[in-house]
Amino acid sequence: MSLVTVLNLSLSFVGRDILKEVNFQVEPGDRIGLVGPNGSGKTSLLRMIVGELQPDKGEIRITKGVSLGYLPQDIYEVLSGGLLQFVVDSVPSRVQLKEQMAALESSLGNHPDPQTQSRLAGQLAEVHHKTIDLDTHYPLHLAEKILLGLGFKPEDFDRPMSSLSGGWKMRAALAGLLYQSPDLLLLDEPTNHLDVPSVHWMEDFLRTYKGAMILICHDREFLNRQSERTISFETRRDEVLQRELRALSQGKGGRGQGSRSKGKTPGAKGEGG
Ligand SMILES: Nc1ncnc2c1ncn2[C@@H]1O[C@H](COP(=O)(O)OP(=O)(O)O)[C@@H](O)[C@H]1O
Ligand SMILES: [Mg+2]
Repeated sequence: MSLVTVLNLSLSFVGRDILKEVNFQVEPGDRIGLVGPNGSGKTSLLRMIVGELQPDKGEIRITKGVSLGYLPQDIYEVLSGGLLQFVVDSVPSRVQLKEQMAALESSLGNHPDPQTQSRLAGQLAEVHHKTIDLDTHYPLHLAEKILLGLGFKPEDFDRPMSSLSGGWKMRAALAGLLYQSPDLLLLDEPTNHLDVPSVHWMEDFLRTYKGAMILICHDREFLNRQSERTISFETRRDEVLQRELRALSQGKGGRGQGSRSKGKTPGAKGEGG
């Protein structure tokens, strides 16, 4: 059964068609590369899949129970807590279980009657069991291994997330996603924030990744190695070039030579230190 079905999806911004009647399905274990020039709607497509953005027409069906993990192109959220804890807690049920455990423990202290106590103790045992299960599936050493692979040092594990620069925050967010191991990973230019050793590490990691993936990446070789099929928005390229040529001929090119070189993200920052 497909994880995600995209049906006749169309999106426009201020009267300009960005995506027009896009159709595709994502099957379990699928590896899809999204290609197209800047502004062709790659990021918008991922945002629609995770529900951040509503399409103008068409629909996206996510099969019930399918987990998605999205690495945005840029992170603006304030990420709190320590680095390693952030990664460990990125498994959604972990925080819930912690909260349930705390609530049950405090109820136990507040209810002296034996019947309630035994009921609460039973519930507590169940939550405890689930926590152990979770620890087996998501061991701490895996979180550490991923962080080290992405270039962090053991002494960073306790660092507050707020003290990390933008590039390192992205790496931390990526670490959280890889650790969660969702059914479908949506990665928007993940290598932008990585240095060469980390890119190599991630390649190896993704190669053994069992889940499905939709990847946007300007490094065409990386993309080709990681994806088994591509969805291309290249057809829009002519239109984009035409528009740029028109702007240039009208003297609005204004961005100097090479303004048409593709592959640069506007505003992309250098490697975070
Ligand atoms: N929230 C928005 N409001 C208006 N225009 C937008 C918005 N988000 C994206 N766009 C425009 O839609 C086009 C596609 O953007 P995007 O999906 O980011 O493309 P890509 O990721 O392929 O570079 C761009 O021209 C962009 O300026
Ligand atoms: Mg984009």
